[in-house]
Amino acid sequence: MKTDIEGAIVTEQFLLRLTFILISRFLLMISINSRIGLFVFCTIATCPAVFAETLYERLGGEKGVTQFVEQTIDLTASDPVTKRSFDKVDLKKLKLKIAEHICALTDGPCKYTGDPMKIVHQGLDITEAEFFAMVEILRGTLNRSGVSESAKNELLRILAPMKRDVVSK
Ligand code: HEM
Repeated sequence: MKTDIEGAIVTEQFLLRLTFILISRFLLMISINSRIGLFVFCTIATCPAVFAETLYERLGGEKGVTQFVEQTIDLTASDPVTKRSFDKVDLKKLKLKIAEHICALTDGPCKYTGDPMKIVHQGLDITEAEFFAMVEILRGTLNRSGVSESAKNELLRILAPMKRDVVSK
């Protein structure tokens, strides 16, 4: 016959084993399903950065950015106010460079390989009126592309300070 002390030891060992099994199951679940584990953790710890989209993604990624850049350049190069500077420019190459630049500026997976804004626009004698006309064309293409109001404004806020390097007249 088991004594009371032996019975208590058996119960304690059983509870310890049960606790161990439950903890290892929980850890296994988190490691197998780390996305869910991370999600639970993030909800608790409120770390939205883990799942937040980059501005590049919110602008439609490669497809979206390529599309609105191509439309913006086509319209800018044919608009009576802005077309003057684009006379002898290779528009296909320019579209690629501008899309790459925007990708890099908005945390996309690209590295800008063109020249600095000041150097590129030097000698083009771009006026403030031309700059604002191009911004309005871009605003229009972004509106038509279905990009959210906040993503559009974030991009325009990033480009606005470049006026000092683009405008020279
Ligand atoms: C924030 C506004 C602007 C940005 C971010 C921007 C960006 C760029 C980029 C990335 C390039 C290509 C650089 C390279 O090939 O290495 C470029 C070239 C050019 N940009 Fe802009 N640009 C802006 C405003 C303007 C405006 C307002 C105009 C004229 C109305 C303009 C006219 C041109 C022209 C004509 C070229 C081609 C220059 C050449 O190939 O010789 N840009 N721009």
